[in-house]
Amino acid sequence: MIETLLVIEDEKLLGAELSRHYQNSGWEVVWATSLAEAKELLIKKKIGPLLIISDMNLPDGNALDFMEAMKNNINYAEWLFLTGYGSVPDSVRALRLGAYDFLEKPCDLDHLDLIVASAARGATIQRRIGEQTKTRHIRYSPEAYVGHSPQAQAVRNLLSKLTAVPFSALIIGGETGTGKGLIARILHYGGPRASQPMIEVNCAALPRELLESELFGHEAGAFTGAAGRHRGLLEQANGGTLFMDEIGEMPLDLQAKLLKAIEDHKIRRLGGEKEVAVDVQIIAASNRDLEKMAQTGSFRADLYHRLGVFKVMLPPLREAIEDLDELIPLFVAEYNAKAGRRVSAIPATVWKKLKAHYWPGNVRELRNVIERCVLFADGEIFPEQWLNLPKQEDNPATNGLSSENSIYLPLDGSMALDDIDCYIIKTALEQSGNNLVAAARALGTTRETLRYRVRKYNL
Ligand SMILES: Nc1ncnc2c1ncn2[C@@H]1O[C@H](COP(=O)(O)OP(=O)(O)OP(=O)(O)O)[C@@H](O)[C@H]1O
Ligand SMILES: [Mg+2]
Repeated sequence: MIETLLVIEDEKLLGAELSRHYQNSGWEVVWATSLAEAKELLIKKKIGPLLIISDMNLPDGNALDFMEAMKNNINYAEWLFLTGYGSVPDSVRALRLGAYDFLEKPCDLDHLDLIVASAARGATIQRRIGEQTKTRHIRYSPEAYVGHSPQAQAVRNLLSKLTAVPFSALIIGGETGTGKGLIARILHYGGPRASQPMIEVNCAALPRELLESELFGHEAGAFTGAAGRHRGLLEQANGGTLFMDEIGEMPLDLQAKLLKAIEDHKIRRLGGEKEVAVDVQIIAASNRDLEKMAQTGSFRADLYHRLGVFKVMLPPLREAIEDLDELIPLFVAEYNAKAGRRVSAIPATVWKKLKAHYWPGNVRELRNVIERCVLFADGEIFPEQWLNLPKQEDNPATNGLSSENSIYLPLDGSMALDDIDCYIIKTALEQSGNNLVAAARALGTTRETLRYRVRKYNL
């Protein structure tokens, strides 16, 4: 796709040179020699540039005032300023207003090319986020969290309250697959920030260094391999929400840095000198007990208290089993539509099995089971043979583990390896009445290993 570049420059020679140069590198270049002309192009003609390269002082005014006036009236664009004076106050203001960069004239075209390329990349990402935002907020309201159990109703009530207030931070807790991601989306797209971006980051998925530069961004040359400037996720989420999944896995020193950013509403890119203002709502999620972790020092207590002003705790499915009444028809209808099936009758024996199951993978496990059955269905009847749930007598919910010494685990991707590990240990401990020696024997391991893992998972 050919993108538009707007050049605002009253010096004829420079304007012509920039236009020619960027036309040759594949841009559609539009050149304005005054702010009035630029305004006409942006507002009336709606040229929608991805990038704007502007002189600082034009015959009819200052380009920063112009940027401030235009920014919210046009589609997302990155602004680059060129100036003959190199005045510091202007450059500070330019960055505070969200300008991408500030260059002194005469500028070297090779250098400008690098900046243009990374600014264009940044603007493209930001636009994509903006488009997703528009289509998404329709789908998420508190009603998207389904269930009539008292627990589910309490969650929905809390969500209605929370989407009406401008909270700055919040924690969502709950076992794997209980809907933490769903709740985060409801809170964002159902709240006052719905038209602004929601950015997600999984703190467990990235090594420390990468997580830091992803969150805070970096300047060119901040470390080996940092070619251009990169706006971090906190900046990308500006005005909106940053959803930090698995925040319990975040290294402690980064937690300190995050806390500072939340309290100051400012960040500093790696290798950068200036602070950039950010206005971000943080939604943090974890399937671990952050409160306990804060007590034992494996999570920063100050960050925990800052984030945990509001908490949404999601019930495990086995404790709100009546919610199956709504969840099952919901998922059956969803996969009917997706796969062109017409399952409409669920036999009583199927209901009985589904309700008796322990659901260690919670709603995600349920969703996977329903998907498999609907996809394999031949007609209107929900096919029992594809349930593949453990036999009733193996089920810890109905029988306890002690008599069978066995455990059921869904191997359909609904539980991650760590969740499985944690669940096994938790179950062995429950079964042994929290006797570490007995549990270690049952798992064929040493007391030390078990103690290490108990600490790791905060059991
Ligand atoms: N109460 C609910 N109503 C409707 N859908 C639900 C509900 N709870 C969970 N889901 C659905 O179940 C699936 C799993 O939920 P989600 O991914 O939000 O879980 P999670 O708590 O983030 O899990 P993890 O800890 O593994 O990241 C999603 O498809 C979600 O939409
Ligand atoms: Mg999740």
